[in-house]
Amino acid sequence: MSILPNMGNGKITVPDLVQRKVLAGAANSETKKITCLTAYDYPTARLMDEAGIDVVLVGDSAGMVALGYESTLPLTLEEALHHTKAVRRGVKRALVVADMPYGSYHGEIHEALRNAMRFVKEAGAEAVKVEGGERRLELIARLTEAEIPVMGHVGLTPQSVNALGGYRVQGKTPSAAEQLLRDARTVEAAGAFAIVLEAMPREVAVEITRAVRIPTIGIGAGPDCDGQVLVLHDMLGLTFQDAPKFARRYANVGEVIANAVREYCADVQSGNFPTDAESYHAPGSVKGRKTISISR
Ligand code: KIV
Repeated sequence: MSILPNMGNGKITVPDLVQRKVLAGAANSETKKITCLTAYDYPTARLMDEAGIDVVLVGDSAGMVALGYESTLPLTLEEALHHTKAVRRGVKRALVVADMPYGSYHGEIHEALRNAMRFVKEAGAEAVKVEGGERRLELIARLTEAEIPVMGHVGLTPQSVNALGGYRVQGKTPSAAEQLLRDARTVEAAGAFAIVLEAMPREVAVEITRAVRIPTIGIGAGPDCDGQVLVLHDMLGLTFQDAPKFARRYANVGEVIANAVREYCADVQSGNFPTDAESYHAPGSVKGRKTISISR
């Protein structure tokens, strides 16, 4: 190929993110932490891209916060593809990562490969994310061999909610912390370019961040990771249950929406909406008065 379309135009790429960790290791004060948020549709993806986010993750949290399922487990491959396509259309600069839904990579490797390729070929994702540590070694290696960059995810992995017995902080005992470290090392060795660390003690996340050469992106894993990710609906106040303690709320968009809807309903009922200025008029009519007859 004679042209490198992304060079020098600010587009965030997989090598850029890996390079940030290298620069951080060289104690480069210019190095910026990686910023990541989830998005599931065109307008929010476009807004966050234009606001300068590095990574847009089309999380399988879509199942809960956008589609109203009780867990991430019911989200289908087709639903995840649909959301990824919408996000792709809104993003120019950030890296778009698609979360592979439960069941799309838990069976035969060749089926997982085919599913991951659909995210790249049909939906325009630039990388996929899979949950799990040591048990994903072969899968991550095969995806990477197939030129699909992989983001790993260890700690609290919501697709394992039934096996874990709930959404609990992981790595709280020395042996559990050791297992998380082994998981992270395996994900790196398999070829992942980055790894999400979810819901673990800060001290464990620090150890992992020091131990691996790929960037760690924390959610409920303290401030020492190489980057942070939040679920957009949590940080915007658009969810209906108590958010976890790490999910800082930056806005109360739920309240803004509810107030706007109440105001609209009141305006319609009082005749205050629409006004004459918000109405179309027939040509030659006196403002607000119909002068043409409409034949049937
Ligand atoms: O689906 C999701 O939103 C995620 C993040 C919590 C990392 O996996």
